[in-house]
Amino acid sequence: MSDGFSLSDALPTNNNPSAPPPQGWPSWGNQPPAPGGFPGYPGPPGTYPTPPLGPYSGAPGPYPGGPGPYPGAPGAFPGGPAGPGPYPAPGQPLSAPGFGPPQGGPAPMKVPFELPLQAGLVPRLLITITGTINPNPNRFSVDFKRGNDIAFHFNPRFKEDNRKVIVCNSMFHNNWGKEERTAPRFPFEAGKPFKLQVLCEVDHFKVAVNDAHLLQYNFREKKLNEVTKLCIAGDITLTSVMPTMI
Ligand code: GAL
Repeated sequence: MSDGFSLSDALPTNNNPSAPPPQGWPSWGNQPPAPGGFPGYPGPPGTYPTPPLGPYSGAPGPYPGGPGPYPGAPGAFPGGPAGPGPYPAPGQPLSAPGFGPPQGGPAPMKVPFELPLQAGLVPRLLITITGTINPNPNRFSVDFKRGNDIAFHFNPRFKEDNRKVIVCNSMFHNNWGKEERTAPRFPFEAGKPFKLQVLCEVDHFKVAVNDAHLLQYNFREKKLNEVTKLCIAGDITLTSVMPTMI
């Protein structure tokens, strides 16, 4: 884990200096947050949605931000305009179970919660999770799973020996690896809403909370495309879980 990075460190795949900054990742000095804090726009069907070229204009993509829930077969992930893709259109929370509130008001989602990541992890995949920490919490966890293995376990603990600590780890063949406990702060508070973002990079995850970078976790699991499940459990109320590409 390390701090003190630049945007190029944050997004090593964006090598073109004339390319626009990626959208939706918290601002680290020179990058404005995406409108509403949620990134992205739909891309071509059958692929991960990608943001349009251009600045943070708030320009609508093919899906206008209308009031109604986005139509789609239950359990399906609407993708591009012509057909379903692996991930929902960014900025368009679904009314289908597990995809956040219909536009019009938050409705809590069931915890534990599972989200299939149909195409697995891929660099620049951003998962945005919003919710509220329960009163008197003990812990919660966000797990990126490859079968029963856990590629990335992100686990805030509120009362470990009367301390708050964030534990990150991986589990292979039912064995936990070495814990990483070097998060520089503990940004979660009992009873308070939060936004947690996990960005998949080329060789690590970055985690931001409430639009501020928190930590990174180097991949131990290399088969990214086989990490096809996101599991969220513990002492939180979930409002939305949105995978998008930035
Ligand atoms: C264990 C705990 C697991 C997981 C793991 C991470 O002690 O039972 O749920 O958090 O630590 O290292």
